[in-house]
Amino acid sequence: MRTRPLKVALLGCGVVGSEVARIMTTHADDLAARIGAPVELAGVAVRRPSKVREGVDPALVTTDATALVKRGDIDVVVEVIGGIEPARALITTAFEHGASVVSANKALLAQDGAALHALAEEQGRDLYYEAAVAGAIPLIRPLRESLAGDKVNRVLGIVNGTTNFILDKMDSTGAGYQEALDEATALGYAEADPTADVEGFDAAAKAAILAGIAFHTRVRLDDVYREGMTEVTAADFASAKAMGCTIKLLAICERAADGGSVTARVHPAMIPLSHPLASVRGAYNAVFVESDAAGQLMFYGPGAGGAPTASAVLGDLVAVCRNKLSGATGPGDSAYTQLPVSPMGEVVTRYHISLDVADKPGVLAQVATVFAEHGVSIDTVRQQGRQDGGGDASLVVVTHRASDASLSGTVEALRNLDTVRGVASIMRVEGE
Ligand code: NDP
Ligand code: HSE
Repeated sequence: MRTRPLKVALLGCGVVGSEVARIMTTHADDLAARIGAPVELAGVAVRRPSKVREGVDPALVTTDATALVKRGDIDVVVEVIGGIEPARALITTAFEHGASVVSANKALLAQDGAALHALAEEQGRDLYYEAAVAGAIPLIRPLRESLAGDKVNRVLGIVNGTTNFILDKMDSTGAGYQEALDEATALGYAEADPTADVEGFDAAAKAAILAGIAFHTRVRLDDVYREGMTEVTAADFASAKAMGCTIKLLAICERAADGGSVTARVHPAMIPLSHPLASVRGAYNAVFVESDAAGQLMFYGPGAGGAPTASAVLGDLVAVCRNKLSGATGPGDSAYTQLPVSPMGEVVTRYHISLDVADKPGVLAQVATVFAEHGVSIDTVRQQGRQDGGGDASLVVVTHRASDASLSGTVEALRNLDTVRGVASIMRVEGE
């Protein structure tokens, strides 16, 4: 074994970074044996240097992250600051000064992954990011390496721990949205700005990364259709239950049937209780990958939190250190198919629509006509008179598969009917 250590700069020592530092210290001997050389924490960049950080030598702590990555003797930079800047500039500087990079930063990778990969390749460095998608779950490497000989057609799953935690609490305990979000934040699951979680940006970034790797193409955050989960209500959960379903925030990436394009979307959806994703609780994540030869694979595990995420970071650190020692780099970016990303209107799925309607003769026929005129076939209809004596009823329509564009046209036309007082909710139905 080489005795000269490989030097690691840790950028960020928060929820994830503090666990990375802890495992590097407590597992130092095993890591050295697995890599073939010791790894030394050479510096830790943070914002607040005076904060006490258990197990971290205060002499290593700096607020000058740029100087740290420019030192020239750093072998690997671990970026767990998050956000776009200064993370992007620091990673770029790290590559230019001889270091490979391990990052958990899905926001940055979904926005600028192509440029960062290109620079890494040009400079002969590694860019690894297993922790950026689905926390501890090995998913990037299986997609990029184990399935490199297969053809992936669909990736569907729960990829945000915070929102799964909130939806699970709302469903199973009747907890309020804010109360559940506060708990997820205290547990270290949420992003620095939890809007990224609850409005679906975090899951959309992960969907972009997954779609890019799965379909060997370029998908950016802006290409992903996104709806958050802030408008999911207790009434939606009651409707889902009535259908034998629950509600999850799903990320779905699909190759078109003709193979000529892809779609990527994130939105809340009803899924049957019998579907394996329905039993994914708390901050766990689960992702189905469907491919030509392998069929259906399911990846499941903790999707957020300091220690689980650090596990993925450390796995990448070991891989990158091994590459350094052998003078090689791992597999790079593969976007050779250059498939276009189709708009959401072309996505085909089923819908659950809840309408407030006048409770009088002919209304059901009027509503059914609007669906028919837009080519959307109805599967089931359930009407319930309201108890407030206002002469209105609640009408729940579940459709067969239709395009999102047809459904949007239907809903617009329904809103124009005098007898439709309002569209209470529209939710996609997946996993059947
Ligand atoms: P935290 O907010 O807990 O930690 C961020 C760290 O970065 C802090 O130590 C902070 O310093 C430091 N920092 C912030 N700005 C700067 C700066 N300008 N220069 C130097 N240091 C800076 O975030 P997390 O650990 O939760 O997340 C880090 C990354 O990991 C993000 O990209 C996130 O998306 C990703 N991730 C997080 C997961 C989780 O469950 N938390 C799971 C998977 C990925 P200080 O301590 O002084 O404030
Ligand atoms: N905020 C993210 C989540 C962290 O809740 O899933 C893991 O990427």
